Amino acid sequence: MSHTIPSASGRPRVLTGDRPTGPLHLGHLFGSLLNRVRLQESGADLIVLVADYQTITDRDSPATLPADVDRLVADYLAVGIDPERATIFAHSQVPALNQLVIPFLSLVTVPELMRNPTVKDEASAAGMATLGALMLTYPVHQAADILACRADVVPVGADQLPHLEMAREIARRFNRRYGEVFPEPQALIGEVPSLLGVDGKKMSKSRGNAIAISASEDDTEVLIRRARTDADPVITYAPATRPEVSNLLVLTAMCEGSTPEQVADEIGARGASALKRRTTEAVNERLRPIRARHRELSADPGQLRQILRAGNARMNELADETLALVSAAMHTRY
Ligand code: TRP
Repeated sequence: MSHTIPSASGRPRVLTGDRPTGPLHLGHLFGSLLNRVRLQESGADLIVLVADYQTITDRDSPATLPADVDRLVADYLAVGIDPERATIFAHSQVPALNQLVIPFLSLVTVPELMRNPTVKDEASAAGMATLGALMLTYPVHQAADILACRADVVPVGADQLPHLEMAREIARRFNRRYGEVFPEPQALIGEVPSLLGVDGKKMSKSRGNAIAISASEDDTEVLIRRARTDADPVITYAPATRPEVSNLLVLTAMCEGSTPEQVADEIGARGASALKRRTTEAVNERLRPIRARHRELSADPGQLRQILRAGNARMNELADETLALVSAAMHTRY
């Protein structure tokens, strides 16, 4: 793979990523993955981070991690991230990236980190009795991911905005103290409303309420059949008062490329079971080619590893280059 490393003035460089804590699901697909593919197609230099090292902020590093990483890579490739044009890398394999954390820690204060709403949310979601030091400093680690790439654009969910603001602040403070090294990364927030899981709560990898991209058609059917609805026998689109039914309508519409109102009109008095059959068909139809590709990719883990290693190599080059700029600016080159 021959990648030139363009400056911020060339192709925009885009970084985003996920922790390998479970299979990616429809919320990821519509909220973020399709946007990444779109950015790739429009010529951006897309870099995707498998945030393996960051799984230990709120859990032990399990023996399943290698398989979890492979599955995440397969998820990315199956939806259309193209390793010929994009870079997929594993966080733990890029030492220079992690070396940025020490100078960055010198640029932030503990009270600032304590105020970060995403840190607070994630610590309480993880049921942490006391705040771990890695959880507290997570925004600084994420800033290192972003700034190691000297990324221009970071597509993320709205929940990640406080982290992005921290990365921007660190870039500004570093540049002010040592001279201009980092572009200020811009957040790109997905416009799609966040999808609910089959229990009516936010669709989430760790809540067991999500329809995985790689799930079988049968499992998809069972999950949707079990989805919560309400007592009103006529299907209407009313997101404020009927969130569960409306969520199924949105999901169906996204998969079909129609609108939730249109689907509601067509189902109407035929009720929730007809809606669920329609949703199941729409999801399975939309995911069919992605799942076929996923099965092919999963059958060849050697190829997945090779793709990841090539991405690691490219990211190491880029992070080494960033660290060299940082070292020069900080007068730590002897
Ligand atoms: N914090 C992100 C999440 O939980 C994952 C992540 C880690 C990330 N480093 C990143 C996202 C850098 C964008 C850029 O989903």
